[in-house]
Amino acid sequence: MTPRPPAVRVLADAAAAVPLLLDEVRGLAQREPGALLGFATGGTYTQFLRALAAELPADRLLATHLDEYLGFGPDRRGGMVHELGQSCPPVLDMLRRGRFLPVPRVGDAATLGAHEQRLQRAGGVALQLLGIGRNGHIAFNEPGTPFDSEFHVTTLAETTRADARARFAPDEPPLQAVTSGLATILRARRLVLCAFGKPKAEAVRAMLTGDLSPACPASLVRRHPDVLVLLDHDAASLLTLGQASA
Ligand code: GLP
Repeated sequence: MTPRPPAVRVLADAAAAVPLLLDEVRGLAQREPGALLGFATGGTYTQFLRALAAELPADRLLATHLDEYLGFGPDRRGGMVHELGQSCPPVLDMLRRGRFLPVPRVGDAATLGAHEQRLQRAGGVALQLLGIGRNGHIAFNEPGTPFDSEFHVTTLAETTRADARARFAPDEPPLQAVTSGLATILRARRLVLCAFGKPKAEAVRAMLTGDLSPACPASLVRRHPDVLVLLDHDAASLLTLGQASA
């Protein structure tokens, strides 16, 4: 069966995605109490996470996230859990209560396997939020990552490190991260991917209309049966009419 193509909505601006994302989370908590929500990190989600802080249904959902810099614990500046906690403090409360399942900071096979099993015991990720890198990465699955990859340690691409440089200044960004794999991401029951701004336009074009290939890891989302892509006009600017409609 060929999956239906991703639903694509082009919004006035990034702020317009916030109520849609809040509705996604509210709907999940109502439909599936105890379901596992997968956060994405990155500037794309900051506005949403700040808004979510006022209403995160922490008792009705479990949560996890996509990736972590190698060796970074939850309280280390620059790390992904630290970032989530800064924008959305209730995440830290969930972490203390065992309701937030952090990506391991180490990458040995036993630890990563145990993390995968923990996610599965929690019912698997019901709703996975995703961003996209300028080079077409999702999570930290850089170009060339096989589609059947599971949680693994990855070496970050130069564009990824360049984009992360500001958050680590005056230090250099890490070289490696632990990331969910492309197969891991594809197992989530629903994917919502957001991309805003001109620098994402080429990656968005490749994701939706380029070859379905590890050269653009995000193109894999076209194999998923339930995907919503939220763009602003700049991120959608290289799509031709009919490929992206509200
Ligand atoms: C980061 C993260 C991704 C994120 C992407 C885009 O490196 N690993 O999960 O989606 O790059 O980040 P931003 O939203 O800051 O553009």
